[in-house]
Amino acid sequence: MGVHPPTDGPRKIILDCDPGHDDAVAILLAHGSPDIELLAVTTVVGNQTLAKVTRNALAVGTIAGITGVPFAAGCDRPLVRTIENAPDIHGESGMDGPAQPDSAIELDPRHAVDLIIETVMAHEPGTVTLVPTGGLTNIAMAARKEPRIVERVREVVLMGGGYHVGNWSAVAEFNIIIDPEAAHIVFNEPWPVVMVGLDLTHQALATDEVVAQIEAVGTGPARFVRELMDFFKATYQDAQGFDFPPVHDPCAVAYVIDPSIVSTRKVPVDIELAGTLTLGMTVADFRAPAPEDCHTSVAVDLDHARFWDLVTDALERIGEVDLPTNPEAAADGIAASDAAASDSDSADSDSAASMGQVAAR
Ligand code: BDR
Ligand code: CA
Repeated sequence: MGVHPPTDGPRKIILDCDPGHDDAVAILLAHGSPDIELLAVTTVVGNQTLAKVTRNALAVGTIAGITGVPFAAGCDRPLVRTIENAPDIHGESGMDGPAQPDSAIELDPRHAVDLIIETVMAHEPGTVTLVPTGGLTNIAMAARKEPRIVERVREVVLMGGGYHVGNWSAVAEFNIIIDPEAAHIVFNEPWPVVMVGLDLTHQALATDEVVAQIEAVGTGPARFVRELMDFFKATYQDAQGFDFPPVHDPCAVAYVIDPSIVSTRKVPVDIELAGTLTLGMTVADFRAPAPEDCHTSVAVDLDHARFWDLVTDALERIGEVDLPTNPEAAADGIAASDAAASDSDSADSDSAASMGQVAAR
């Protein structure tokens, strides 16, 4: 039930992410889909420090052969809370498992918040969709710094929250609870918000059949996804008792590509900021009828087969990608992970400038 008039060409999106195994798949899906025009990739602290997730985003862009799309680093800490990362799920590098190549992409010097604002303001009103798949710090900051983006953005399709289930507390999801004040801002601005939460993404399991389907593509990027899924499966089994990993973030991209793959329901959603047990809960009000001015909806059901077909099709379209010549890529990947593990979380080490040096390593 999102705002989707008849299709008028590829959807323009800004992907704001914290790679992250599932963020990596979201980047690949967005790049490989003919129905998406990827305007920018921006990063935010979340699954790991800003330095690590930014390096990971550049590595994924390199593996996917992305050119001509700005990648920019954003906020290195939440608005109010202390930094919380997810090494139990994503490892010390934030994207443990596959070796990472040297980046062929230079980091854009702009702050992600400025890049988001400039990109939205440079396009026709109602044409740019924001797709956040990490904490909402950058998006909230952009809405506060340039309030005019709120009426210009087509919709915000975010991975986060859940109306029946949490994963970082009994009732809160990771992307929301790491920066609940930012989430509160984003859900309370009057732009259309589609919450692709855990109720939906726990249906996006990378089963053995799914992984075999992806592996059958037979390219480097497909092998990369397979290796990501191997690591993700192990951590989801150990840390959260899943048989197969839920691949959250590309579900938001899939909704933008083809909303018929994800059913939604229009309900008011707000963010709990005061609860002692419920901080970061996405409180959805299912009482009918929804108010006339309701601008939020929640994702309910996923067409599992069509979702994974979209991911597979995107990988087929990406095809084989020439990586920068680097015979020691595997060794570098391990060394980089080790270095990243000892990285300090200080703002200095997370600066966009230092990321540029890491990226140009
Ligand atoms: C969300 O948290 C992160 O660990 C994932 O990348 C996803 O965006 C799932 O709760
Ligand atoms: Ca994420």
